[in-house]
Amino acid sequence: MKEKPKKRRGAPKIDAVGLRTILDSMVEAVFVVDDEGRIVLTNRALDELLERDVRGARPKNLIRSGELRLAVRRARKQRVATEVEVDGAIGERVRTFRAQVSPMPGPGGVVVVLHDVTALKAADQVRRDFVANATHELRTPLTAIRGYAETLADGALAKPEVAESFVAGILRQTQRLQRLAEDLSLLSRAESAEQGYELSATDLAVVCHDSAASLESQAKEKGLTIVLDMPSRPVVRQVSARALEEVLINLLENAIKHSRMGDEVRVTLRATPKEIAIEVRDYGVGISKKFHDRIFERFFRVDPGRSREEGGSGLGLAIVRHLLNRMGGAIALKSAPGKGARFKVTLPSAK
Ligand SMILES: Nc1ncnc2c1ncn2[C@@H]1O[C@H](COP(=O)(O)OP(=O)(O)OP(=O)(O)O)[C@@H](O)[C@H]1O
Ligand SMILES: [Mg+2]
Repeated sequence: MKEKPKKRRGAPKIDAVGLRTILDSMVEAVFVVDDEGRIVLTNRALDELLERDVRGARPKNLIRSGELRLAVRRARKQRVATEVEVDGAIGERVRTFRAQVSPMPGPGGVVVVLHDVTALKAADQVRRDFVANATHELRTPLTAIRGYAETLADGALAKPEVAESFVAGILRQTQRLQRLAEDLSLLSRAESAEQGYELSATDLAVVCHDSAASLESQAKEKGLTIVLDMPSRPVVRQVSARALEEVLINLLENAIKHSRMGDEVRVTLRATPKEIAIEVRDYGVGISKKFHDRIFERFFRVDPGRSREEGGSGLGLAIVRHLLNRMGGAIALKSAPGKGARFKVTLPSAK
């Protein structure tokens, strides 16, 4: 018995219009070059990338990249397909593409598919910098601990007067490692979208009080007073008390660290219908304008040597910035060398 040919009802038409639809649905930018090396077909992604119609132009006039020019020529003349990574300037911007360059059937035509990997490359660089920085931060205290332990093993144990200071050194460096591990885990939690900080009706003045109280003894050691300037009426908002406390403790620790003996550190809370503002102010060494953005970067310290002695890893303000981002808030800094620093946290005022 002869089988009846199946009737295909839903098959799409792939004519010129169909092809155009396919090309325009692609995320990658595509263009086709004819046998004279001129662009004869583009897709929407390419038009949007270049912000103009480039049909009739030569590829070298849209993306300035030697590698791409060579790959197109090879495909035209030798009829071989290649995949190349190209750093190409488009106007003023340099972008990185993974380009698939293939000969078309027929004489001389070439199709180029450009996959923009600029953001991917940048993210990869950030990750690599992070690993390099974290490794460095781990290595420094580990080297010190090993040094102390080796000296003890080599005979210093028998001399109690020096042994004591080496053991103290080991303890100090171990605490530093512990803090680093805690900061790293906090940072990863603040950065991760899945980790929720639970919101609840919170009296913000209470959070300010609690944060200041937990640093009372650190402040006392330097003869500092933490002054709280709170509104007379409670300011209750839906926030994560834990995240806000984390932010304030970081700012207060920095303020204490960089204050001079006997100074004052001031926390001011203000609520307007538009926003909530909490300012942490110190009268210490201050920060030069050129570092105002950089201090929020991971591991950045203005004075690495000094900060390291105090156990700082440079992660505190990066954690602060991430936490505030998640709360829909922001942080701004006013400071100049010798003039102290004012870190102003703003939060949306919605109740
Ligand atoms: N109140 C301040 N006054 C002067 N400099 C400050 C102040 N706050 C921060 N800085 C500078 O910004 C740098 C980054 O601060 P951050 O809190 O991120 O790191 P850290 O305090 O060094 O280390 P960590 O907070 O991880 O213990 C500090 O090393 C310091 O140089
Ligand atoms: Mg800090």
